[in-house]
Amino acid sequence: MIVGIIGCGTMGSGIAQVAASNNNKVVVVDTNEIALQKAQEAMRLAIDKLVSKGKIDAEMGAKILNNITWTSSMSTLTESSLIIEAIVEKIEIKQSLFQSVESIVTDSCILASNTSSLSITSIASSCRIPERVIGIHFFNPATLMQLVEIVPALQTREQITTEAKRIIDSWGKTTVLAKDTPGFIVNRIARPFYSEAIRIHEEGTPIEIIDQALKTIGGFKMGPFELMDLIGHDVNYAVTESVWTSFFYDQKYTPSFTQKRLVEAKWLGRKSGRGFYNYTEDATSLNTQPDLRTMQTIFDRVIVMLINEAANALFLKVASKDDIELAMTKGVNYPKGLLQWANEIGLKNVVNKLDELYQLYQEDRYRCTPALRNNDRF
Ligand code: NAI
Repeated sequence: MIVGIIGCGTMGSGIAQVAASNNNKVVVVDTNEIALQKAQEAMRLAIDKLVSKGKIDAEMGAKILNNITWTSSMSTLTESSLIIEAIVEKIEIKQSLFQSVESIVTDSCILASNTSSLSITSIASSCRIPERVIGIHFFNPATLMQLVEIVPALQTREQITTEAKRIIDSWGKTTVLAKDTPGFIVNRIARPFYSEAIRIHEEGTPIEIIDQALKTIGGFKMGPFELMDLIGHDVNYAVTESVWTSFFYDQKYTPSFTQKRLVEAKWLGRKSGRGFYNYTEDATSLNTQPDLRTMQTIFDRVIVMLINEAANALFLKVASKDDIELAMTKGVNYPKGLLQWANEIGLKNVVNKLDELYQLYQEDRYRCTPALRNNDRF
């Protein structure tokens, strides 16, 4: 099939490579000629690297590159049967793009957005045929991350959802179905991993100890501060702020001043040489292993907040139990599903810990979902 990708940035290029590696003809459109040239060159280097590492043979490498056309002309999208948009995260710009794309493609072409925070329903509302619009949300880097969230808008025809899922599954990805709600599955449930860790730090615990606690006790590959530094504080803060405003300023999702200040200082993390950690100096490392009890207390607080989010997403039918578990293990590499974790810890213990936090802080962010109170296990 012919797949049209609009936007040749981080996500568009990655998605194009995935589609082209699965025997599709791909047309990548971007308004910025320089960005197009850079993306094309970067893709050539990435494929060369795969070939030299022996991950694919030279013939396959050439085929992938041959499958892709890079252009600034939207009219080349005419014959696409699937369009995936990955341009700037601004609703008006996406809406007007979808309108112009509709005047180019056939009526049977599926129109998808890779947005991480905007409402698919509102993008669809700008279209002549809103029933064919859907969210297909890849994770960064799209070539490596297994998970893709499929997000039907309110208007999306069921057959479009089935077809979008079939296509992305056939590209070797793991798809999960998410309701069109802020942050979908992963970006909603993962919020406390960052926000509760920052809160504990604001109360005086060094970041190194918190990172160590989540890695040692929880088995997470990276601690929250290491991960935020890797993602970039501009990106991570923008997602937090967007989820918070989209939830009508629910206090549970309030962003932190600590992270806002990092963004203001342009201490964006690894990419700028400094974030929570300083990458221009020798890497900071802990001289001593923090004591186990301290680490357990930190881990308990973060994990019950994550479980509360996962349980609440299940309660509100954002996704099925299996998809919530898959999303967190495949989308952000959590060592196990949060609902399984809840079963292992015991739902009563999770509720007690949340109630204890609520008692102490009297803040809404610690309110416990009925899904935890009403069940013995998931
Ligand atoms: P980016 O900034 O790397 O790339 C955006 C590209 O779109 C640029 O090359 C720009 O020239 C082009 N563009 C802007 N307006 C355009 C238009 N009207 N027509 C054609 N091209 C246009 O952005 P990135 O990071 O790739 O994000 C793209 C989308 O993917 C956003 O909606 C973002 O929320 C979403 N996303 C981003 C993730 C990430 O980790 N970066 C993860 C998952 C989703």
